[in-house]
Amino acid sequence: MNFTYQNATQIFFGQGQISKISDAIGTDAKVLFLYGGGSIKKNGVYDQTVQALEGHNWVEFSGVEPNPTKETLDKAIAVCKQENIDFILAVGGGSVIDGAKYVAAGALYDGDAWDILIGKYTPEKALPIGAILTIPATGSESNGNSVITNVGTQQKMAFAAQCVLPIFAIMDPDVMKTLPEKQLANGIVDAFVHVCEQYITKNAGAMVQDGFSEALLRSLISLGNDFNDRDNDLWRANLMWAANQALNGLIGSGVEQDWSTHMIGHELTALWHVDHARSLAIVQPSLLRNQIDHKRGKLEQMGRNVFGLEQSDDLAERTIDAIEAFYNSLNVATQLTEHGDDKQGAIDAVVSRLEGLNFVSLSENGTVTPVEVRQILTNAVA
Ligand code: NZQ
Ligand code: ZN
Repeated sequence: MNFTYQNATQIFFGQGQISKISDAIGTDAKVLFLYGGGSIKKNGVYDQTVQALEGHNWVEFSGVEPNPTKETLDKAIAVCKQENIDFILAVGGGSVIDGAKYVAAGALYDGDAWDILIGKYTPEKALPIGAILTIPATGSESNGNSVITNVGTQQKMAFAAQCVLPIFAIMDPDVMKTLPEKQLANGIVDAFVHVCEQYITKNAGAMVQDGFSEALLRSLISLGNDFNDRDNDLWRANLMWAANQALNGLIGSGVEQDWSTHMIGHELTALWHVDHARSLAIVQPSLLRNQIDHKRGKLEQMGRNVFGLEQSDDLAERTIDAIEAFYNSLNVATQLTEHGDDKQGAIDAVVSRLEGLNFVSLSENGTVTPVEVRQILTNAVA
């Protein structure tokens, strides 16, 4: 357990907190107000933001898509350069906030910002970012990760950099009131898998990380079980905080991580536009069954401490069944159907793309090879 940990994002949590941006952003800064397809205009978040920005110098850029694209974000970078922007206010979900990170780093780089994704340029400076979160799921509001899609090459790729960590995040659970049911279920599943990716690895005896992970998993299950009572302040607040804590770097410090479900899932999104969380629910149960020998200890621990299952020889198997049943209880499918009729073609496409990215030995053990991915997809693709 050897690690360096810092999370410097200042969090303003609770109802009415959007007004805090008035003081959190200096009036001498020229602000780019970045947002998505317009949901913020229907739920009052846009108006609250404009009101809080009174006295500030700002311009807006809208149209950042779900699974944000290089093509759109490059236009925002051009605006930053033209307008001499010195602060980015991202108002939206993971897509807008991830997009803001790409723009913030790209604005201070002379080349094509896609260089960041392909490892040709490692950003060490970026414009400062503030986030107003409108959908709890990714944890992007207080982490340094960003996932961007290149429409031209059909690639969905990730980068991480300390310099793009938001300096503040506004988390007002009231903004969730307009979220469609599907997005709320997606948020629960994404956050659940984030914890799993940092927890279902090796049994390393990290009591604090394991204990906190288990508390988060139990909370998410409880929120899922109470899904029908979701129209209440406490439910919303608990989900927003759980999703944030699931991926702010804390539970992953000093333990092995395995992001292979995410890496395979990203390809399902790039190829068939499957929602991010739904791609994870499709891949994960099958991947866990495939890797069960490596993950048996942790799965058994999860079965006991999260699902309250009794010890038995097949406890790990029953834990995976319980995870899958949990997703299904939220109406989130665990089989891919979006690819059409050609199952073999779909599997070949995903495997060859992962090989193209050199993702040929994923997982904490490097045991998720193209052969295993084929096996995983054979069970996960309908
Ligand atoms: O664009 P608008 O009109 O705002 O609509 C959005 C979008 O269509 C809508 N929405 C957001 N807040 C709303 C709302 N609708 C009504 N009321 C509200 N309050 O929801 C839709 C989805 O938004 P999006 O931002 O795409 O969702 P999410 O937060 O799930 O983000 C997904 C993206 O994050 C990446 C994913 O790959 C995907 O591109 N991830 C980022 C991570 C990170 N930075 O750490 C980790 C994750 O694993 C993930 O990969
Ligand atoms: Zn995710």
